[in-house]
Amino acid sequence: MDMTTSIVDNNFRKDVRRCFEQQAYAIPARWLYDRRGSELFEDITELPEYYPTRTETKLLEDHGSDFAKAIGTGRAVIEFGSGSSVKTPHLLHAVKPAAYVPIDISGEFLEHSAAMLQDDFPDLPVYPVEADFMKRVELPDAVADLSKLGFFPGSTIGNMIARSSVDLLRSMRETLGIGSQLLIGMDRIKDPAILVDAYDDSAGVTAQFSLNLLDRINRELDGDIPVEKFRHIAVWNDHYARVEIYLEAQDDVTFTVDGTTHRLTGGKRIHIENSHKFGLCDARLMLRAGGWTPLCEWSDEQDYFTLILAEAHPYKHAP
Ligand code: TRP
Repeated sequence: MDMTTSIVDNNFRKDVRRCFEQQAYAIPARWLYDRRGSELFEDITELPEYYPTRTETKLLEDHGSDFAKAIGTGRAVIEFGSGSSVKTPHLLHAVKPAAYVPIDISGEFLEHSAAMLQDDFPDLPVYPVEADFMKRVELPDAVADLSKLGFFPGSTIGNMIARSSVDLLRSMRETLGIGSQLLIGMDRIKDPAILVDAYDDSAGVTAQFSLNLLDRINRELDGDIPVEKFRHIAVWNDHYARVEIYLEAQDDVTFTVDGTTHRLTGGKRIHIENSHKFGLCDARLMLRAGGWTPLCEWSDEQDYFTLILAEAHPYKHAP
């Protein structure tokens, strides 16, 4: 066994064990993003059916002068979950920040994206922070006296259940402070057929991305799950206003992971992701619940995706 396969994240082991042993049949979506998963996700963002990335990028490209007006220049831009930071340059060109702070849980990604950005913006001070942004994050001293703009693109907020998304918005408010702004991307409720296609493309890339999770379990947790017996499914749950992603056993299957044998009956589904979609009123209410007052909104012509700018005002007494 080489170094990379012998170092197994114990949290991954715990989450997978809980899924099969307690028959909870859910695995947190964060485990989708190993190296292969991250590559496949990049491919997803270029699929004809997957409209969110291209629609949001176009909004960022098109509304630079609106951002400059509503946000101003000279702030510190704090990006939550910066990943590969591909959308960021458009925003930075528009708001000419005094500093850029990408926050990501993966140090590897951070270094890469910080370096890429530095090429485009040689004079911009960049302060990467490796942290879990679900909790309050300690920002670098160098940005303490600057006003802040949080940036949270990709409708990542939609990958949380409502209670967690409000918790996150509140901790962002604490991280950034009163008077800060937040520019957040939210994917909109639309024809379920379009939504389901975005998560189940005809080329099967999304299916590969989901099924890679089982391959990852086999690779890293000494498993022998028969991956070919599982099917990727995307369903629109109208009550929750979300796309749910599952891996469904097509047959009774028996396999071993991490020394323990598990059995799944045909038709059993493992829940691996939720992607909530928002009406405009839902989006505004959620922001207010998290302590953010909506200021401006930008949507594409089809209302597929919306960028919302919000501000953290001091709490006032309300009737
Ligand atoms: N979280 C992203 C989204 O909701 C990423 C994503 C796209 C995804 N396709 C997926 C996650 C399929 C799991 C399965 O758009």
